[in-house]
Formats: sequence, C-alpha cells, structure tokens
Amino acid sequence: AQMIALVPAAGSGSRFGAPSPKQYLQLNGRPLMWHALATLAAVPAIDKVAVVISPQDEWFDDFDWSLPKLEVHRVGGASRAQSVANGLAALAPGEDDWVLVHDAARCCLSVAAVERLIAALAGHPVGGLLALPVPDTVKRADAEGHVAATVPRNALWLAQTPQMFRAGLLARALGEGAAEDITDEASAVERQGLKPLLVEGDAQNFKVTYPRDLALAKAILAARGG
Ligand code: CTP
Ligand code: MG
Repeated sequence: AQMIALVPAAGSGSRFGAPSPKQYLQLNGRPLMWHALATLAAVPAIDKVAVVISPQDEWFDDFDWSLPKLEVHRVGGASRAQSVANGLAALAPGEDDWVLVHDAARCCLSVAAVERLIAALAGHPVGGLLALPVPDTVKRADAEGHVAATVPRNALWLAQTPQMFRAGLLARALGEGAAEDITDEASAVERQGLKPLLVEGDAQNFKVTYPRDLALAKAILAARGG
C-alpha cells in the first residue's frame, strides 16, 4: 500500500490576522508550512507529500520549496474537511493506501512522532491519530460561568495531526460528513461507527493559531537547527 501525506493549506488564517495566510509567514528562513512538509518528506515510509492550496492562492509560487516527494493541488475548499475531501479526490489513492492528513500550521512536527504513529498503526484496519493526554484539571461550566462539574481527565486526549486512515474509508467518511462541521478526520471516521487508535503525540506538535504562538515555534525549530 502507498503512504501519502496530505496537507490542507487552503485556510486564510483569520485568527492569526496577518496580511498573508499564516502558512506562508517566514519562520526561521522558510515559509511556516515548509517545516511540516520537510518533516513529512523526510519520513522514508512516506511516498508522496501532497499539499492542498486554494485555487485563488497568490503565495505558493513565490517560494522555492525544493522538497522531494512534494506535489501541489489547487483544490482547496470552504472548510478544512472540504479541502481534505477535494485533495483525496484529486489524488485518487487506492482503497487500502494510507493517508496521513496533517495541518500545514503544525510546523514543529517531528519525524519521530510521525514514525511512532506509523508503527503503532501497522496492520490496523481503520487508522488513528496523534493525540496528547490532557495535562490540566478540566471543568465543565454552567450557563453563568460557574463550575458545574470537574470532568475526570484520565480518559481525555487532545487531538493533533497527522491523522492516518485507509484512503477509501476516509474518503467515504468525509463524503458523508461534509455537511456537518467536522474539525478533524477522526470525527468523520467515528461517525461511521469505527474507533481510531490514539497514539501519543508531543506538546511541540501544537498548531500555530495566534501571533503569540510564533515565538515558541521559532524556538523549537531553532533548537533542532532548522
Ligand atoms: N484549511 C484548509 N482549508 C480551509 C480551512 C483550513 O486547508 N478551508 C487548513 C489550514 O490551512 C490549516 C489547517 O486547515 O493548515 C488547520 O486550520 P486552521 O488552523 O483553523 O487554519 P485557518 O483556517 O487558516 O485559520 P483560522 O481558522 O484562524 O482562519
Ligand atoms: Mg480554521
């Protein structure tokens, strides 16, 4: 089976609020999303790294990506799930090929984390995702902002990416869930009655969402020499 990394990068970065989408900001000498693409391309088991950008994208061609395995698809949609679904349609992978969907904005992904995910899912029929156990005590609020309950955190995880699924299964799950507001691939798969495997990610694999996130990303990449 082929192993394809699919990186949705068609968002506008509205919460970040920069003139260009956050995935194109310069970060340690490269566009922000270059770092994640380079990590995925550096994983020997991954055959192809496909990035999905908006048909109206004005920035991608300004950079020299110089990465092996990289291909670009200008088929981004109105939501992240739609961008992924469109990318899958363009790639037309085999039923049992693996697809690793990774946020362009998670620029501090490490090769080790990707390889941990791939190893944990060897032979798995469905797939799974990197995730992090919730570190803090969790409170449920009532309508007035008081604590209604303390939620036991021992079974709670924060979903990260990559999220790795069999291609046929993922395409069907996203096709049926596209109308609803699905924020990750796993929830689409869960709605099919299937159970993705949780694989321990790492705290460095956070998503750049606000300007305040850049300093940490810079420091992490600099410490790795990138
Ligand atoms: N994404 C996408 N297509 C969309 C929306 C988002 O490919 N229509 C991608 C983003 O480019 C990003 C990933 O999905 O790599 C995670 O989304 P998020 O962090 O929310 O990025 P944005 O949607 O760009 O940011 P915001 O929600 O603040 O506008
Ligand atoms: Mg978004």
